[in-house]
Amino acid sequence: MNHHPHDEADDSTEHHGHTEQEQSDASEASTLHHRRIRSFVTRAGRVSVGQQRAIDELGTRFVVPYAPQLADWDALFGRQAPRVLEIGFGMGATTAEIAAARPGDDFIGVEVHEPGVGALLKLIGEQGLGNIRILEHDAVEVLEHMIAPESLDGVHIYFPDPWHKARHHKRRLIQPKFVAQLVTRIKPGGYIHLATDWQNYAEQMLEVLSAEPALENTAEGYAPRPDFRPVTKFERRGLRLGHGVWDLMFRRR
Ligand SMILES: C[S@@+](CC[C@H](N)C(=O)[O-])C[C@H]1O[C@@H](n2cnc3c(N)ncnc32)[C@H](O)[C@@H]1O
Repeated sequence: MNHHPHDEADDSTEHHGHTEQEQSDASEASTLHHRRIRSFVTRAGRVSVGQQRAIDELGTRFVVPYAPQLADWDALFGRQAPRVLEIGFGMGATTAEIAAARPGDDFIGVEVHEPGVGALLKLIGEQGLGNIRILEHDAVEVLEHMIAPESLDGVHIYFPDPWHKARHHKRRLIQPKFVAQLVTRIKPGGYIHLATDWQNYAEQMLEVLSAEPALENTAEGYAPRPDFRPVTKFERRGLRLGHGVWDLMFRRR
């Protein structure tokens, strides 16, 4: 995950080190196989020595195996606390920073990219964080099977893959059907917080969330970045280059 849209010229087709053509070929094959359009393409991950050590030492404690059934999150966290789901945490730097700043809340981080899982486990070990659990699986399936209705206090989705090309927009995570399912898992009064640096995706996010009857916008249009979301180094660089970042903060009715 050393690639981020900020690293690229706006019209670049390269994305996480793969061209969109490669992604497209790989994803077409996997779509045929799975018969479901996914928001990611599985990449051969290079897990570093340090990440592998963290996986070996901390995996059993902090990684929850995927199973198509409801998980007992109170038991998994060893307490009852407000619970936030983060989809696509990347290398986990933001996840760790938020979890450290909000020790009273629990965070379920979902990511399909194994080096990212290793990287977050490493941060958990280094910082002694007890309030994160990780799932290495498609968040769409995790949400559908493992998360009970009206059980989440918040959802974080930061810089989801923008899928730049129009013919790939169907892969974007933030679509009406997915959002309709996502809101069923959020408690009334709970929040959904999105951020993107891709204007066209920001517009889609605003349109989709505004059209979801179970959600209300906490802002007029885009929201100011809440203090709890740290500015990433990619974001800082992008902002310096004059790129925008859009936050959205909606509440479940
Ligand atoms: C552009 S990266 C952003 C990572 C991180 N949130 C950040 O701000 O740096 C998007 C991440 O979402 C992950 N992802 C995409 N679709 C996913 C899904 N359905 N389930 C779990 N992870 C997903 C990708 O593997 C990738 O690491």
